[in-house]
Amino acid sequence: MAEVRLTGVTKRFGRDVGIEDVTLTVPDGAFVVLLGPTGAGKTTTLRLISGLETPDAGEIAIGGHVVNDLTPAQRDVAMVFQQYSLYPHMTVRDNLAFPLRSPILKTPKDAIAARVREVAEVLHIAHKLDNKATALSGGEMQRVSIGRALVRQPQLFLMDEPLSSLDAKLRSDLRIELKRIQADLGATLLYVTHDQIEAMTMATHVGVLDRGRLVQFGPPKEIYENPASLYVAGRLGLPRINALPAGLFPGAPAGAKTIGLRPEHIAQGEGQPARVVRVEHLGDQTRLHLTLDGHDVITLTDVHTDLGPGDTVAVAPRNPLYFDARGARIT
Ligand SMILES: Nc1ncnc2c1ncn2[C@@H]1O[C@H](COP(=O)(O)OP(=O)(O)OP(=O)(O)O)[C@@H](O)[C@H]1O
Ligand SMILES: [Mg+2]
Repeated sequence: MAEVRLTGVTKRFGRDVGIEDVTLTVPDGAFVVLLGPTGAGKTTTLRLISGLETPDAGEIAIGGHVVNDLTPAQRDVAMVFQQYSLYPHMTVRDNLAFPLRSPILKTPKDAIAARVREVAEVLHIAHKLDNKATALSGGEMQRVSIGRALVRQPQLFLMDEPLSSLDAKLRSDLRIELKRIQADLGATLLYVTHDQIEAMTMATHVGVLDRGRLVQFGPPKEIYENPASLYVAGRLGLPRINALPAGLFPGAPAGAKTIGLRPEHIAQGEGQPARVVRVEHLGDQTRLHLTLDGHDVITLTDVHTDLGPGDTVAVAPRNPLYFDARGARIT
């Protein structure tokens, strides 16, 4: 069991808030993605769970045991850092084998070699096993860092933007691999990313952090469809949700200041007239940049559209989300 439970956890750095009063239960075997802009407290959360930081207040439990007083080594947690942490003078093979060579583990040599090869193959790095860690590209280093966590097969993985410096093809391959590995091991995984697709496709749960506070936690679909605030609504969805004055369209409820319209939630051919500013052909998707009463609006349109700059198109909300003056959702 590797359920992770944070209860009222606070960590400050002088006057700066790392995280503030975070209470969160990560179910055993869950794949949790933490979202939030830079400085929101994502890395701090992972470092607190791994034992690299000590909370100022609150309790952290892994598998039902309070771990506040345990060292990182005693927690059986593998962390992949935002900055790669490889031994530069060692080969890829030795970097990968290192976590298994701990005398406490007593892992036989041939078992280590087999495990290293297996992980190297999964991460498409087997052809670089004899390279020095310094003789690798950024993406290769990142894969070795992930490998160093995977070889150990712990119950809990913490990964801080592990795929951020990989190209699109490798990213999508490893996305699938990571998800598979996590499912095979039945491991619990906390994962930080800024990537839309990673969050939507890999996560069983998404946690949204705002200046150190956990503002929503739930399945990605729920976070997307039912955000508690304008802030949360803006964390998922690409192109981003359109945040417009509520009065721009008829039908806003009392107290609504802002109407949130996801690009796919705008109907064309009825409603308010908007002017086309730009048509962006992305291959599988065509984005329509509009201006409506001086406000920018982005929506999607037919890939074969004949609309062009200067044209007028009528638009109306579908499934609008309304928010009050403080950004809280009005339902
Ligand atoms: N060691 C530290 N000393 C001082 N302040 C810190 C330290 N670590 C984090 N902080 C502060 O805590 C807050 C949260 O930082 P954290 O690194 O958790 O953000 P993050 O969400 O991981 O951001 P990013 O997306 O940029 O990695 C920030 O204000 C940061 O400046
Ligand atoms: Mg960080």
